[in-house]
This record gives sequence, C-alpha cells and structure tokens, in this order.
Amino acid sequence: MIQFLLNQELRSEHALDPNLTVLNYLREHLGKSGTKEGCASGDCGACTVVVGELHTDDQGAEQIRYRSLNSCLTFVSSLHGKQLISVEDLKHQGQLHSVQQAMVECHGSQCGFCTPGFVMSLFALQKNSDAPDSQKAHEALAGNLCRCTGYRPILAAAEQACCNKPQDQFDSRQAETIARLKAIAPTQTGELNSGDKRCLVPLTVTDLADLYDAYPQARLLAGGTDLALEVTQFHRTLPVMIYVGNIEEMKRIDDFDDRLEIGAATALSDCYTALHHEYPDFGELLHRFASLQIRNQGTLGGNIGNASPIGDSPPLLIALGAQIVLCKGETRRTLALEDYFIDYRVTARQDSEFIEKIIVPKGHTLFRAYKVSKRLDDDISAVCAAFNLKIENGVINEARVAFGGMAATPKRAKSCEAALVGATWNSATVEKACAALAEDFTPLSDFRASKEYRLLSAQNLLRKYFIELQTPHIETRVTAYV
Ligand SMILES: Cc1cc2nc3c(=O)[nH]c(=O)nc-3n(C[C@H](O)[C@H](O)[C@H](O)COP(=O)(O)OP(=O)(O)OC[C@H]3O[C@@H](n4cnc5c(N)ncnc54)[C@H](O)[C@@H]3O)c2cc1C
Ligand code: FES
Ligand code: FES
Repeated sequence: MIQFLLNQELRSEHALDPNLTVLNYLREHLGKSGTKEGCASGDCGACTVVVGELHTDDQGAEQIRYRSLNSCLTFVSSLHGKQLISVEDLKHQGQLHSVQQAMVECHGSQCGFCTPGFVMSLFALQKNSDAPDSQKAHEALAGNLCRCTGYRPILAAAEQACCNKPQDQFDSRQAETIARLKAIAPTQTGELNSGDKRCLVPLTVTDLADLYDAYPQARLLAGGTDLALEVTQFHRTLPVMIYVGNIEEMKRIDDFDDRLEIGAATALSDCYTALHHEYPDFGELLHRFASLQIRNQGTLGGNIGNASPIGDSPPLLIALGAQIVLCKGETRRTLALEDYFIDYRVTARQDSEFIEKIIVPKGHTLFRAYKVSKRLDDDISAVCAAFNLKIENGVINEARVAFGGMAATPKRAKSCEAALVGATWNSATVEKACAALAEDFTPLSDFRASKEYRLLSAQNLLRKYFIELQTPHIETRVTAYV
C-alpha cells in the first residue's frame, strides 16, 4: 500500500496500475480535470502540480517544502508519504488564491489551457520566495508554455503574487499538515500493484539491494523524467519498478574537504547549491538543465543511469574525475564514471546493481563547462563540453577534456588531451588540440545539429576556454546557440 495526502484528504492506494501517472490519476480516477495534458513529455508544463514534503530547514525547524512537478511524468507510487496539491485545491471558501487573482488582474490568461500549469508554478514560486525576483520568476516559469497570452502579463502576475502574499489555507494549516505527513511517514516498503504489475517503494539501501536481487528484471525509478517517457510516449508497460526516491541515504549530499558525495537519488535542484558553490559552471549548467519541474524530480543518478550520449552532467563529472559507487547485494565497487559508459546505452552495470552515490572531487580551479543548445531553457544539448586542466608555470601538467553529443557515449577526448599534456598553454597548443579533436570524434548529424557543426563547436569551445582562462574577466561561457 502507499499513502499520501490529496491536499488534506488521506489516500491509501494499493490496487492501482504502477504505470499510472499522477496526471491520469487526477483526471481519470478522481475526475479532477483542472490539470491538463499538453504533451505528456515534460515539455509544456500544462500538467504542473505541486508536491509537498516534510523538510527540516537549516535552523532545525520542520517545514513543508513545496515543489512544482510535471504530473505527466510522475508515477503515483512516488507520492508515497507526500502531499499532492492540484489546481482544484487553490480556491478556498469561494475565493481565488492570490496567485489566481494575480493572473486575473494582470490578464495572464486567454484560452486558459496552459493556465492551471502556470498557476501551480506560480503557487510554488510564491511559497519558495520571500520577495519578487525576476530571475526566479523566469526560472519558475521556464517550463510552462503559453501559445496565446504571451509571457509579459504572466510575469507581471508572478511579480504581483510574490509582492502580495496574504496568508493562505496552506499556511494556516501548516502545523496540522506537518502532523498528518508525520503520521503517514512510511515505515516499511510500500507497494502498488495491479495483476502482475508492481512498483515497490523501499526505504533503505539494504532493502533496495534485496528487492533488486529478488526482481532483477525491475526497472529502477528515480525522478521518472526519462523512464516515464517509455509509458507516455512509447506506450510500453513497465511490469516491475522499484522507486528509489524514498531512500533518504540516497538523497544525501556529504561535503568532505576533498570531495562531495552525492546520493544517486538526489534531485538535480538539490544538487545545485553544493555543485554551484564548488564549480560555478556546474551550477550554471544545472540552471540550463531542462525546466524547474524536471530538475525538481530528475536526479543525478538518473542522468547517469539512462546512459544518454547527450546527458548533461556526465561530461562534466568525467572531466572532474568523478567516481560512482555501485551496489549489488552486500557488495560495493567504485568505478571511474568514464568507465561506466561502454557503448550506446550500454553500461558496466551488472544485473541487480545500482548506482548508490556519485563522488565528485573538489578543488579543480580551471574547470569550465559549456552547453550548446538551440534554446537557453528547457533544451537538450547539441554539444556539451567540459575542460579541466592543471597548468604550472605555463605548462599543462594534466588534462581532462570530455564531451557529450559527440559520440555514442559521453566521452573523454584522449587525442586532444595528449596534444595538451606537457605543452605550453598557448594558442599554438590549442590549435593542435583542436585538430586532435577530429581524431577523437566522428559525430552524427541529427535534428539538433549537423556533424560538421558539432565538431566545429567542440573546437570553438576549446578556443573559448583558452580565451577565458587568459582573460578571466571575459564571461563568455553563459550560452552558445546553434
Ligand atoms: C522535458 C525534458 C527535458 C530534459 N532536459 C534535459 C537536459 O537539459 N539535460 C539532460 O541531461 N537531460 C535532460 N532530460 C532527461 C532527464 O530529465 C534526465 O536525464 C534526468 O536526470 C533523469 O533523471 P531521473 O531521476 O528522472 O531518471 P529516471 O527517469 O527515473 O531514470 C532514468 C534511467 O536511469 C535508471 N536509474 C535511475 N536511478 C538509478 C540508479 N540509482 N542506479 C542505476 N540506474 C538508475 C532508470 O532505471 C532509468 O533507466 C530531459 C527530460 C525531459 C522530459
Ligand atoms: S503535459 Fe506537457 S509537461 Fe506534462
Ligand atoms: S492562454 Fe492559451 S495557451 Fe496560454
């Protein structure tokens, strides 16, 4: 059985198809059709809902953390122990919620199809911001598309909603909701099943290892932002899933003097602060990773686990010399991330083995990363590059250069690195290293970029890195457009 609060109503479910998304649960099982389906692929935000979770803040106070999610990519099993808030829950005692009122007053809606999604993103923004902040408003709304109103009135509504935050029903019931969430906090493995289909929801790494041993055919479900597409886009059925998002040990970030250890089930939003602090370019990349909704549910482990050649974090992690800890039963092994990716979607992971955590070394001061995509927000990379050199007295001692989008896997550029190591850090060396990139990669042409464009971009990104290190005041790395 799984349990969650549907706003304030306790729901206990056990006989549901684990392939059921929260979107379809709301619309088809509960008749709550305010939440809309635009794309069923995480791109439009019409399906945005807010999920509340118990959270202890820096002062040790218990709070509820509200986050926007794409309900089209969220399976119901991942609600276990949480609070689900949909657009129907905002209006209270006949009064629109202040974010809805702001949308009305700022003329933020025309046909209205996108409006529930915007309202829910605004609601999460309001709950998470103390003052109007246009950058945060843009970030909160970048995953919501509107085809008719235009964004200016919606951004005005965001500003109004964050200026004017009257206490709402969620604030006045906070203590009660915390108590109710504590009362349903899972104490043992949850399960949702229907016939032969099941999703198991373990709470510890040991239980996950045992369950994965018992069900080696199971698919691991983290944020589901990739896995759920198999159901919503390819109309497949996933007969057995194990949800890793309730395993606290795998959602922790441990900060040591020389490294960060990041639990594989840590949401990308939660990775931001630690990675941005150590490596500002990593933080910047995470800002440009999909949308806020996707970053709130997608995990670092899932970004490695899907073994996509265009996943954004692997090239950065490889350039930093990151390792992963793989766990199977009681056995653990540590592997350099670059050795995890073997071929297109083929990895070194054995049956029943899972990524427990990612170890990111600290202190690489010349690390830089660049993402090339057609749009700034919510777009997949055509090319993603990460450079990490050690230079002493003008000579390159060590070089780690990695790319995504250039081969069947995220990959180091070994010829390029060989051209760099031992050489003087100057433009002649950079040109030799650029030429060597052509030996490292034979990229493909696809709808994101041609092979010629990819290779030229990779070479130009190395040139850009050189210019930036020579003239650190030049901040050119923010964006490159196809
Ligand atoms: C609209 C949209 C935009 C996107 N934009 C980007 C982008 O800009 N950059 C980018 O890189 N990606 C992007 N993605 C892809 C996806 O969001 C990311 O790859 C995300 O990090 C996947 O994490 P997840 O937790 O949702 O993984 P899931 O979907 O839960 O899982 C993905 C795969 O990893 C496996 N897995 C999960 N956890 C583990 C584990 N601990 N051990 C072993 N295997 C595991 C799963 O079994 C599955 O095969 C986007 C996706 C969408 C839908
Ligand atoms: S329906 Fe478009 S993001 Fe979910
Ligand atoms: S109001 Fe019509 S799509 Fe936004």
